[in-house]
Formats: sequence, structure tokens, C-alpha cells
Amino acid sequence: MSTDMRLGTKFAGLELKHPIMVGACSLTSTPDGIEKLAKAGASAVVLKSLFEEQLMSESGLYGNIEALHPENWDYMKSFGTQIRPMDYIRLIQESKSRVDIPVIASLNCQNRPQWSEFAILLQNAGADALELNIAPWSNDPQPPGWAENLVLDIVRQVRKDVKLPLIVKLSQYFSSLTWLIEQMAAIGVEGVTLFNRFYHPDIDIHQLSWTGGKRLSTAQEFIAKIRWIGQLSGRGVDVSASGGIHSAEEVLKALLAGASCVQIVSALYLNKFEIISTMLRDIDLIMKERCWESVDDFHAAFRWDRGENAEFLSRRQYIRYLTGKDS
Ligand SMILES: Cc1cc2nc3c(=O)[nH]c(=O)nc-3n(C[C@H](O)[C@H](O)[C@H](O)COP(=O)(O)O)c2cc1C
Repeated sequence: MSTDMRLGTKFAGLELKHPIMVGACSLTSTPDGIEKLAKAGASAVVLKSLFEEQLMSESGLYGNIEALHPENWDYMKSFGTQIRPMDYIRLIQESKSRVDIPVIASLNCQNRPQWSEFAILLQNAGADALELNIAPWSNDPQPPGWAENLVLDIVRQVRKDVKLPLIVKLSQYFSSLTWLIEQMAAIGVEGVTLFNRFYHPDIDIHQLSWTGGKRLSTAQEFIAKIRWIGQLSGRGVDVSASGGIHSAEEVLKALLAGASCVQIVSALYLNKFEIISTMLRDIDLIMKERCWESVDDFHAAFRWDRGENAEFLSRRQYIRYLTGKDS
């Protein structure tokens, strides 16, 4: 049996030949890029995001895009070429005609949608699913729950308008992620991407100026996510792990913790696209060593229960570490 067949998985209603998808980035902003990634073996691609500000600017509702939302404009400039909304529709259509893997559209938003109609166009263009990257931000103080409620308002509206499988990409910075995920399950969200990686600004202490942060992740970042993947999986919404996945080791850990699949980006920028087949080959080797035939087999070999294993996910482990008690 080929590796792909043995590693088949389902995420947000999409059938994937294996769990390694490509996350939203500039590599997925052209049909050529998408075709190359599909040839390199990606099981699905999330397209480069279209920003809410771009949609609103085209519709005239935001006026001049560069004059508003400076943080988002900086982010948009730092993270690659901008795609105009109608070109985005063409990107979906052309990509779908060239590849046979799922193509997931991506919208980056932070306000209640006045752009739902556009999401319907994405659906009609043939996108297999829609990922909403929602990062609420306010310079003014907001009451507790403001960010969570904003996310749910956006998701509720889009769910009403769009039939596509809905995936929400979140950051780690919410006060109650477990509650939020369970609310999203009730609204009908099929998948969550955990987590969004912010473009953290930095300070240059020699030039005494703000600078851009590091664009690419390292594998060390993954360790901060795994607790959350364990904590948030199995709550009615499929999980795609994202952030710091650079080798087969992180892929396996994500799946064992409960994710259905992973998204990689930095690993593709730092290596050649062959990194996908390298990861698959390494997973295959581990599966052979363990006599695992399928993803289900390694889930069975590593059964864990959120109740019984709570100490690994919670504060007790931290107390143990600080008090030097290791049993
Ligand atoms: C060059 C570049 C462009 C990106 N563009 C987007 C984007 O348009 N939308 C989005 O949701 N995430 C975007 N991201 C974030 C990635 O999708 C991903 O969440 C992040 O890089 C963490 O994964 P990694 O550790 O595998 O890189 C971008 C990342 C990079 C490096």
C-alpha cells in the first residue's frame, strides 16, 4: 500500500490523501505555485488570504485602503503581493482546473462581514472550503468577551450565507479557547486551524526603531501549540495544526495529540518543496517500524484521555517541575 493511501485523513469534510497541507502564504497566490505544490505532493492548499480591507476598498466602503487600518496594510505589504478580489476568483477557477487536490479560499477579517456576498462568489468559483483568519484587534479598551463574541458574530453570519465547509484560523490569544471552539461547533464550523502566527514587531536597539519581526517559524515554536491541540481536539470541530511544523516528528505529534492534519509554510520557504515527500517518507519509516498500517493504528497505539492525562495539559505538571518533584 502506498504511503498516501495509508495516511488518508478527513478534515472539515474534505478527503485528504495524507495530512500534510500547505497553509496560506505567497506560494499559494498563483496557479503555477499551486500546481508545483500539488506536484510536490501537498494534500491540499490554503490560498493566500484576501484581506477584508481589500474587499471593502474595491466596493468603495473603505475608500483608500492605504489610508485606513495601518497595521493590516503593513501586514499585507510584508506578507506578499496583493491579489485583487476578482483576480482571486480567477485564481480559484484556474487552480481548480489544474490540480485535483482541495483548494481552500482564505479571507482575513476582523469586522462583522459586509462582504458575505463575496464569500458566495468564492463558493461559486469552485473553492472546496473557506478558511477565515480572524484576528480581532482594538487599540481601545474592550470588555471581557469582546474578541470571542466578535469571532462568533463573524462566523455566524458567514455560516448563514455560505454552504462551503467553514474553517476558522485562530491565534492562541483568547481567554477561553475551549468555550470558543465549542460555540463554533454549535454554529456549524467544521474545522479550526490552530494557530495563526502573528507578525510580531520588534525593536532595533541600535537604530532605536521598530522593525519587522521574524517571518518564518522554527520547530521550537511547535511545543507551545501541542497542549492546545490536545485540549481542543475532539470537541466537535476538526483540528488542523499550524505553526512550527518542520519535520515528520511534529506532524506525528500533532496527529497523536488529536489533529486531523497539519499545515506547513515556513518549512517550504526554508527547504525545497521536496520537504513534503521527505516528511512523508520519514512518517512511513516510523509507521513501518511500529507496524502501523493507518492513521487509525497510531491513534489506537496512543490512546489518551483528557481526564486521565489532564496533568500533562494543566498546571500540575508546572508545579511538579517548579517543586522538583518528578513522580
Ligand atoms: C510569506 C508568508 C505569507 C503568509 N500569508 C498568510 C496569509 O495570507 N494568510 C494567513 O492566514 N496566513 C498567512 N501566513 C501565515 C501562515 O499561513 C502560517 O500560519 C504561519 O506561517 C505558521 O506556520 P509555519 O510555522 O509552518 O510557517 C503567511 C506566512 C508567511 C511566511
